[in-house]
Amino acid sequence: MAASVRDVAQLAKVSVGTVSNVLNRPDKVAPATVERVHRAIDELGFVRNDAARQLRAGRSKTIGLIVLDVRNPFFTELARGAEDEAAANQLAVILGNSDDDSDREAAYLDLFEEQRAHGILITPIGDVTERLERLRAHGTPAVLVDRSGADSGFSSVSVDDIAGGYLAARHLLEQGRRRIAYIGAQFEIRQVADRLEGARRAVTEVDDATLEVISAEGLTVLDGRRAGERILARPATSRPDALFTVNDLMAVGVLQALVMTGAVRVPDDMALVGYDDIDFASAAVVPLTSVRQPSRLIGSTAVSVLLEEAADPSLERRTIVFQPELVVRASSVRH
Ligand code: RIB
Repeated sequence: MAASVRDVAQLAKVSVGTVSNVLNRPDKVAPATVERVHRAIDELGFVRNDAARQLRAGRSKTIGLIVLDVRNPFFTELARGAEDEAAANQLAVILGNSDDDSDREAAYLDLFEEQRAHGILITPIGDVTERLERLRAHGTPAVLVDRSGADSGFSSVSVDDIAGGYLAARHLLEQGRRRIAYIGAQFEIRQVADRLEGARRAVTEVDDATLEVISAEGLTVLDGRRAGERILARPATSRPDALFTVNDLMAVGVLQALVMTGAVRVPDDMALVGYDDIDFASAAVVPLTSVRQPSRLIGSTAVSVLLEEAADPSLERRTIVFQPELVVRASSVRH
């Protein structure tokens, strides 16, 4: 049977209260007593059960972070930023991967609530406002990440994806491209729709330019590769002369498809722009032009906002929107 605080107290010949002080406020206990208690802890293999303590405190020392796809380095960077800021505040981040699945997302929200998370950061798939309102009413604050919450009543930290889509398409137009294709999937996800909207705005500013929307099955490297293969299967004359993919993972996949056959040269025959500026973008076989998002900063800022709201729920909600930045590399500029 696991050793209890009582066992430790008995072996160290101190009261249960002293053991608790050694664990929580060691500065209040004489050094010799602290040492005696630690010796008893080691001898008995005592491990503190934090659940009961957290239950009494009303909140655990963890923040739940739910992202769309943990395989996407954009989200891992975001999580890293959140983790750093949480650690600076003696908290930890628990990562939940919704995998673009609303049931899984709902299960994580339930779990984090049951575990009395200090708060929740979420990149939702669809509209989860009602569920988050209930969580907040029960004492768990939430902040939207990578998604604007302007009309949701929740604070949010995101990037202006319409501006990002505009930057990408305008850059391609400035390179003289006129048959642009936007490759995306799951258009119900706000980022995907906003980037398309931005690209559309840029294309409508140029008379002879067109924008085709190519729908892939998902947002991964493999989905990008399949989309690239479908483009290659078309006659050369009906192919776009530029591609803008909703994220870098897909751009890497498209690039694989195009480069492996050698039938299309990037950027000479087809220019390519991705989104996120993950590390793989600059390391790709043809370095990728990309729209950079400050992923770490999104995560760390979201934790700061969450902690301020946890400390004072009456604070006014904030909508923080970072501006994206175009990073031009070889995949979109002819030499
Ligand atoms: O999940 C889709 C995309 O949204 C990610 O690749 C990242 O760009 C995020 O903003």
